[in-house]
Amino acid sequence: MRFWQAAGAGVSGSEHILFVQDVTQSKEAEKARDQFLYHVTHELRTPLTNIRAYAETLSQGVIDDEQTIRECYNVIMGETRRLNQLVEDILNVSQMEVGSARLDVGEVPMDDMLRKVVQDMQGNADGKQIDLVLSLPAKLPKVRGDRDRLAVVLTNLIGNAIKYTPQAGRVDVSCSAENERVRITVTDTGIGIAPEAQEKIFEKFYRVDDSRVAKIPGTGLGLAIVRETVRMHGGAVFVASTPGKGSTFTVLLPAIGLDESARRGAGTTGERK
Ligand SMILES: Nc1ncnc2c1ncn2[C@@H]1O[C@H](COP(=O)(O)OP(=O)(O)OP(=O)(O)O)[C@@H](O)[C@H]1O
Ligand SMILES: [Mg+2]
Repeated sequence: MRFWQAAGAGVSGSEHILFVQDVTQSKEAEKARDQFLYHVTHELRTPLTNIRAYAETLSQGVIDDEQTIRECYNVIMGETRRLNQLVEDILNVSQMEVGSARLDVGEVPMDDMLRKVVQDMQGNADGKQIDLVLSLPAKLPKVRGDRDRLAVVLTNLIGNAIKYTPQAGRVDVSCSAENERVRITVTDTGIGIAPEAQEKIFEKFYRVDDSRVAKIPGTGLGLAIVRETVRMHGGAVFVASTPGKGSTFTVLLPAIGLDESARRGAGTTGERK
């Protein structure tokens, strides 16, 4: 659909000039902004409501049981952390989208990073009796990138694989080198993603409309951050999935090749590509 804005001016007697302007783009931008604000306020509301309710209960001074008081504080702390993470995620993805985010570029050994992230996620996997398996080749070129941001990419992908895989499933993480690129795959035996949702999951705030997803906490920002980060690194991310069977997320990142000395110093800007 296109939107037109018309303005008329009388010239002489019965003659009029009609100015017609195509305002589709600004209408669409307005709609996107409204939707963004709607999502942000919606996501902020729940933790804020909880913090307020628990703080009010504590301030009334009617609870004298130590353990309940501690539980109230824990809820407040947990919700505060959630708010903090949410605000950081929103800022992060917005900055990357508008191109104002910068990469702190260095040489990143993906094997070490994968070992570390997998180790950090082990507790989550164990909690659901999920087998989390990492396979690495003997030798792997380094990646030119931002260590912290790449760790967030891997944490989001492995975190999702664990979140959206039922108890006693399996998550395989692997990494290989090909044509001056490093390929990372995260495969799960989880609920899968319907073909029509596979592109949308990378949009901000999009969550698949499924009761199994709704039960799991999340804001739909993780994959938007993954996509923007990978794009900033000159890489790509894609998904292959079969509902009911599982999903594979693949990330391709430019590797630092053996001929790196020739390229050293080139292409290390933090600009969005
Ligand atoms: N491995 C997966 N298996 C099945 N569905 C997935 C998987 N990864 C993502 N999804 C679907 O894509 C949606 C978007 O994922 P994304 O990581 O952006 O958000 P989230 O996990 O819901 O929340 P957040 O990452 O912000 O905590 C998820 O809500 C889920 O519906
Ligand atoms: Mg996620």
